[in-house]
Amino acid sequence: MKPVRKAIFPVGGRGTRFLPATKAVPKEMLPVVDRPLLQYAVEEAIAAGIEQMIFVTARGKAALEEYFDVAAELVAELKAKGKTAELAVLESTQLEPGRVAYVRQQEPAGLGHAVWCARLITGDEPFAVLLPDDLVYGPSCLKQMVDAYNRVGGNVIAVEQVARERTGSYGIVTPGATDGNLTEVLGLVEKPKPDVAPSTLAVIGRYILQPEVMTILAEGKRGAGNEIQLTDAMAQLIGKQPFHGLAFEGTRFDCGDKAGHIMANIALALDRDDVGPAVRAYIAGLGIAPAGN
Ligand code: G1P
Repeated sequence: MKPVRKAIFPVGGRGTRFLPATKAVPKEMLPVVDRPLLQYAVEEAIAAGIEQMIFVTARGKAALEEYFDVAAELVAELKAKGKTAELAVLESTQLEPGRVAYVRQQEPAGLGHAVWCARLITGDEPFAVLLPDDLVYGPSCLKQMVDAYNRVGGNVIAVEQVARERTGSYGIVTPGATDGNLTEVLGLVEKPKPDVAPSTLAVIGRYILQPEVMTILAEGKRGAGNEIQLTDAMAQLIGKQPFHGLAFEGTRFDCGDKAGHIMANIALALDRDDVGPAVRAYIAGLGIAPAGN
């Protein structure tokens, strides 16, 4: 079984839900506490043993490339001032030369199209896809998926239950047999309405896929929203290759949504030694009853 060494990060989306902030700043650069959203996904990938990060960008996303570059002037300035803590923070975000590649998605033709844009870099290897909008807080979700992949091979996607009224926002699984935290995937449909959704088991933005999916994506067939959907291409692999959904450990925040982004900020802030106590005291002072009361 070929190891998963490469990860695709589709980061070409315009982020219109976060206007006006995203007028000048890519949405992946919006902070959760003090790190850009994208940093969380990259750390998750590194923890999973990914060697090469492939960012599928678009016009207006140059800040992403700056972020992963060495900020030589800043390093020199911090060194001169003896700011060692800040230097260490910068270093923790630094990727070795050659570990990052960028390709441009030249038209907003959907997630499947974004993934396909990276095909010449992934070649004939299995690869991961991480959608940075989905922040999974906890042990590396992708690492859990790589461990599962090393047991069962084929394709592995992260899944979680959602409320039935939310099926129209997700890829939805037709589930087969479940063994521990792995469920066989018998079918996949992109954003079905609640009354026709085959289940409430949703795909979240983490995938390990076999290279054959690129050949299917190359056909350029349009699906939901008239976009080239990754879900539709994956559906065609079912029955030909092993396909499993992993119920991962961790909490997923939908940071593509304003409320989800705020919740992620609160949850992660509460867990931090530096800002946690102040945020906790503030929330307590609001006198909000705990959920469920
Ligand atoms: C994408 C996928 C969808 C998946 C979701 C997870 O949708 O198309 O299948 O369930 O990510 O976040 P998007 O959120 O980009 O509309």
